[in-house]
Amino acid sequence: MCGIVGYAGGRPALGIVMDGLRRLEYRGYDSAGVAVVDAGELLVEKKSGKLVNLEKCLAERVDTGFDVGMTGIGHTRWATHGGPTDRNAHPHLSADGRVALIHNGIIENFARLRADLAADGVEFRSDTDSEVAAHLFAAELRGVQIGGPAALAEAMRRTARRLEGAFTLLAVAADTPGAVVAARRNSPLVVGRGVRENFLASDVSAFMEYTRDAIELGQDQVVLITPNAVEITGFDGTPAVGTAFRIDWNVSAAEKDGHEFFMLKEIAEQPQAVADTLLGRLDGLDLDLGDVRKIVIIGCGTAYHAGMVARYAIEEWARIPCDVEMASEFRYRSPILEPGTLVIAISQSGETMDTLMAVRHARAEGARVLAICNTHGSTIPRESDAVLYTRGGPEIAVASTKAFLTQLTALHLVAMDLSSPPGIAAALAHVPDQLRTLLGEMDPVRKLANDLADARQVLFIGRHVGYPVALEGALKLKELAYMHAEGFAAGELKHGPIALIDEGTPVICVVPSPSLRLLHDKVVSNIQEVRARGARTVVIAEEGDDDVVPYADTVIRVPRTPALLAPLMTTVPLQVLACSIAAARGYDVDQPRNLAKSVTVE
Ligand code: G6P
Repeated sequence: MCGIVGYAGGRPALGIVMDGLRRLEYRGYDSAGVAVVDAGELLVEKKSGKLVNLEKCLAERVDTGFDVGMTGIGHTRWATHGGPTDRNAHPHLSADGRVALIHNGIIENFARLRADLAADGVEFRSDTDSEVAAHLFAAELRGVQIGGPAALAEAMRRTARRLEGAFTLLAVAADTPGAVVAARRNSPLVVGRGVRENFLASDVSAFMEYTRDAIELGQDQVVLITPNAVEITGFDGTPAVGTAFRIDWNVSAAEKDGHEFFMLKEIAEQPQAVADTLLGRLDGLDLDLGDVRKIVIIGCGTAYHAGMVARYAIEEWARIPCDVEMASEFRYRSPILEPGTLVIAISQSGETMDTLMAVRHARAEGARVLAICNTHGSTIPRESDAVLYTRGGPEIAVASTKAFLTQLTALHLVAMDLSSPPGIAAALAHVPDQLRTLLGEMDPVRKLANDLADARQVLFIGRHVGYPVALEGALKLKELAYMHAEGFAAGELKHGPIALIDEGTPVICVVPSPSLRLLHDKVVSNIQEVRARGARTVVIAEEGDDDVVPYADTVIRVPRTPALLAPLMTTVPLQVLACSIAAARGYDVDQPRNLAKSVTVE
């Protein structure tokens, strides 16, 4: 939520900051803004709406300082406090306009601080919680006795100590060109180290074009960057060091590469992403999971659905009891966690606040935590006992696709590590090729999307591992096409949802592998039941499964896999369907309304 970028170096900052914002726009697109410092001047521009609005404003500006200043910060916003307007866009300025500050997170004690500042005569120009941090920082800076960049760091430490909640703050001051200061508590921030230039950002995709060397920070730290130095301290001033790491994502992975949407590109990348996740791991994982007697999987959104799929494999192969829970609910019901409980936290971004809080709770209660994560330098792996990176590369589209398939793959690897199911390693090795074939056969799905684009609602049904796939298919359609879409366990239909069906209602049926004979036949019966009530049935079935043909208005074929691996196939047509319906309805597929990719507030 909210993307932030900072730069201090020897090149004009504006282009670098804007490039960074383009790569971080998936984090929020309610407004965007930049501040550049040049020769004692602070230049600021901000605009509501997507980044393109800011780009237009900047194109009209004639002041040259904007183009030459070599210190800058930028922000792309997902609104929490205060609507998505120009005045609530970041950066926020001090009263004298000499300090600019951007914020990601929520300042929980902002109302009290705002009242105190207002009593001291400060006039507020926005409805945000963030603006208090700008005024506090400016006031602290005035009180610091030392000068130069060190003053910024001291003022930021003092500011951070007065704030409650979650925040990443970045600030620049007109009188201190060549320095950007940041503070971080429970909100993402990584440092990029270049040659005579340094970077700050919510994640590495913002600066990986310029440097591959990055530093992970701890919580409650302040970092000051200048062109030649990165200085890290705790909020109390104690010197600290971050953890250096190399960025192994390639730059083109963060470009559309000729695809109309990032989502289409990311769908197309799935064979390679799954192959990368598997690379060198099919013979076992280098993980010390200890004595595992119970597993609890947590995640949000698509990650939660991946966990639901994995439960079937973990229980069937490893015979270890496995619960799956939405991370946002987990810690509020006093879950029973004992030594021997392994919590698996799934998160593409590694920053989802609900998941992070659940991880902290689990560890405080004595459980071991394994993170399944895609993003190096993020918080959840850092705070977990072990991590398995999914190696999916950057996922930019808000709707998750390759992250889901790589999470499933990683979870299957974990389940295999805890057991040794015969034939599964070979079947997994075959999956990337099967995905390539499947992706080459998506024309009927795109055609179907045109037919369904005006539907009032779309229902999804599945059983066993097909049930979470149905939920995931419905989620994709909701978030992208803004249609009423629901996923149901097919067996539950007769307990209520079947009442939703009337003439022509599209029902997407995810059919289990015929190798699960009993279940398969029950779903075939469920398809007949909905058809008898007028449903238009779209059946996702394995190649060669002819039992479904008489009851299907449309059949979409997927390659054959062992039954528990089927979601690696059946999800793909549902991704393409949702993407194509959204495009047919004229919506912005990569940036659906009201959503953000990385949800760093609870
Ligand atoms: C948001 C995104 C979803 C994602 C979920 C969890 O809701 O829109 O696509 O599945 O967060 O994100 P994570 O980064 O923890 O996997």
